[in-house]
Amino acid sequence: MKPAVRLDGIELSLIRQINALATPLSLNLGIGEPNVAPDERLREMARRAATASWHYTANAGTLALRKKLCENTPYDPKSEVCVTAGTQEGLFSLFTAFVDPGDEVLVPNPGFLSYATLAKICGATAVPYDLEAPSWEIDVEALRARITGRTKLIVVNSPSNPLGAVASQETLAAIAGLGPLVVSDEVYREIWYDAPPASMLGLGDNVIVLNGLSKSHAMTGLRLGWIHARESLMKPIVTAHQYIATCASAFSQALAQQVFDDAEWNAQWLAGIRAQFAEQRQAALYAIHHELEIDLDPPSGAFYAFAPVPSCDTISFAKTLATDAAVLVIPGVAFGSRGEGFIRISYAAPLEQITAGIERIGRYLLSQGR
Ligand SMILES: Cc1ncc(COP(=O)(O)O)c(C=O)c1O
Repeated sequence: MKPAVRLDGIELSLIRQINALATPLSLNLGIGEPNVAPDERLREMARRAATASWHYTANAGTLALRKKLCENTPYDPKSEVCVTAGTQEGLFSLFTAFVDPGDEVLVPNPGFLSYATLAKICGATAVPYDLEAPSWEIDVEALRARITGRTKLIVVNSPSNPLGAVASQETLAAIAGLGPLVVSDEVYREIWYDAPPASMLGLGDNVIVLNGLSKSHAMTGLRLGWIHARESLMKPIVTAHQYIATCASAFSQALAQQVFDDAEWNAQWLAGIRAQFAEQRQAALYAIHHELEIDLDPPSGAFYAFAPVPSCDTISFAKTLATDAAVLVIPGVAFGSRGEGFIRISYAAPLEQITAGIERIGRYLLSQGR
């Protein structure tokens, strides 16, 4: 049976393909989820959430959770927020709601690969806007130059996967003012080092903001995300979401509610997760300096180091590292053509694994005469 045309040329992501090369001896620096376990308080919240209703909730989520998500924002909990089965389902819903065949979607290059894939699934063209090392800052004028009469969405991701780069408030405001709909993926917003990243919440009626608990609370498997947007944009998003997921898991919504209700615990949890990633970032940068002889600008958010390597075929490079050096990293080109020549090293891993994994990369490079 031939799959639908919309899936032509689309396969499981390179990230999944590299992870499939893992053996019990591999050190995994390819993973995109926090190496954090729930504490006793969070486990207790989960036990309580399990006793809440198991029935469908409203499509957009329980009103109690929506109210929490709209606190200190200019959005109306009744009509301007939708709880989703993770940020990924939120992305799928909003692409389904707005993107037509023939449209163009501006996506960061390098950037999270879902954006370009979702554009393709909708029959649209992903038009990359290039980001440049070492700052990876968004050049708003270059972005403006890419806008055409067919541009339907501009996708922004700050803090960025795979770059760890954070866009300034001025940059985000300027992007909001460009005209087209803007999708701001803020799923890493709670993972920062020196200063909290700016948000696009409330920056314009054309702005759609996504977030979720996967990265901030290490709940990747519980599939809990949300979207904020003005009512006129939210209506078609909720319609698409209804036919994709009906509603987010009632259990995960009840758990999210408790997380936000216990503001004191939540603030402590987030401070703890940031402190842990700061330590892991330091270990990664130190090892990258000593083993790979590279001085990377410290990433300002998320938990990825995007490091240049002496190879212009990083897919083969990452596959050889996996098979010959037993260390998993993601080839930069998985994130777009501008990622060629780089690897994404995730430091969401225990300190000794970060150090030993980067050592293995260094030894492999030495064995190849660098
Ligand atoms: C930039 C970015 N957006 C969205 C997602 C999807 O996250 P979720 O688990 O909330 O679906 C990821 C996951 O890696 C991501 O890196």
